[in-house]
Amino acid sequence: MSFLIGLIDKYRFSNGERIKRVFEVGVLYGTTSLSLLKQGCKNDEFYLYGIDKGNADLFGEAVFNEASKEELEHYELHKGSTTADIENILKDKEKLDMIFIDAKHAHPYPLIDLIYLIPFLRKDALICMHDTGTIQPNYYGPSYVYLYWDGQKYRNYALDDKLEATNEQTMACIVANQGKERLCKNLLATAKIPFRATISSGDVSTSFGLTQNFIENLRSFMLKHYDESFVKEMSGILSNNDEEYKKVWPIYFYEAQFSLYMWHEIKKMDSLRSRLNKAEDLLKNFWSYQNEITKLWQEINRLKVANVLGNKIKYYRYVVASKITFGKTRQKYKAKRELLTAKLYS
Ligand SMILES: C[S@@+](CC[C@H](N)C(=O)[O-])C[C@H]1O[C@@H](n2cnc3c(N)ncnc32)[C@H](O)[C@@H]1O
Repeated sequence: MSFLIGLIDKYRFSNGERIKRVFEVGVLYGTTSLSLLKQGCKNDEFYLYGIDKGNADLFGEAVFNEASKEELEHYELHKGSTTADIENILKDKEKLDMIFIDAKHAHPYPLIDLIYLIPFLRKDALICMHDTGTIQPNYYGPSYVYLYWDGQKYRNYALDDKLEATNEQTMACIVANQGKERLCKNLLATAKIPFRATISSGDVSTSFGLTQNFIENLRSFMLKHYDESFVKEMSGILSNNDEEYKKVWPIYFYEAQFSLYMWHEIKKMDSLRSRLNKAEDLLKNFWSYQNEITKLWQEINRLKVANVLGNKIKYYRYVVASKITFGKTRQKYKAKRELLTAKLYS
């Protein structure tokens, strides 16, 4: 998140302009949206769009609960929408400066989000994507777009406590400044990667492959915004991949579920191993930790004593207060005194 906030704060396009119009795909509670909005609104012209397939109240609620009235004037959330609705959402002609793709992570969905958004981007827009490291099995959609992208691109890394880069949760940013032809070549390169099942605990139908309707809608959209030869090639690749996938989808479905199970088990083992290593380290160094432990123990006791003393001072204050006041106030102090008596002398 701080990567995106940093871009909104510091990034300048080659003509000196800052990031003004941002589009987030997949908002969930809206925690990222809220931070982007707060940072962006430090500049008057900022505007944030969000879309989420979900319709429930929880989508975007962080923004609606925490943003100010003025900030909300710079925000628009479209629930129950996907990037296929983009033409209805962005009716005006002004282009987007930055997009953040963080919706369905299985391949080819991030690619498809991108195909829908590219016609609405400025020439040198920033394309940001979450989870471009290898995370859960078949969450590789964003990673494929990033890895197969030939052009200016950046990726940040999480650091562990030894400041070593880990491959968890990586945010990526592509600068789309390479012209239409190369951009289309990049999209085609990613499209060629075979599909695998979506991992979904709820809706199994998302593992059945793309529907005819989905492919048809994408095709008619592309025909309006891309060259015919590109549309032909892209539609051909996606339909072929989908056909191949559908021949064996149950295998891929179980493969995905099994990989996910193994992934969770390995994570549990890793965490167990690291806890064991820490315990081993603690035991080995027990004597050298003795001093630290003693100091900690003394500190805990000091705090406990301070707490008792603090409560005793309060107790006497209530004793006095309940003597010099009358009526309801006296009752209140008496009650407080009794509560503290129970606490101190139990
Ligand atoms: C990882 S969460 C988004 C987290 C959010 N960007 C953040 O940083 O706090 C993914 C969200 O994408 C939504 N989603 C899934 N498929 C989608 C699609 N095809 N179009 C739009 N949203 C989708 C889900 O409902 C979910 O809320």
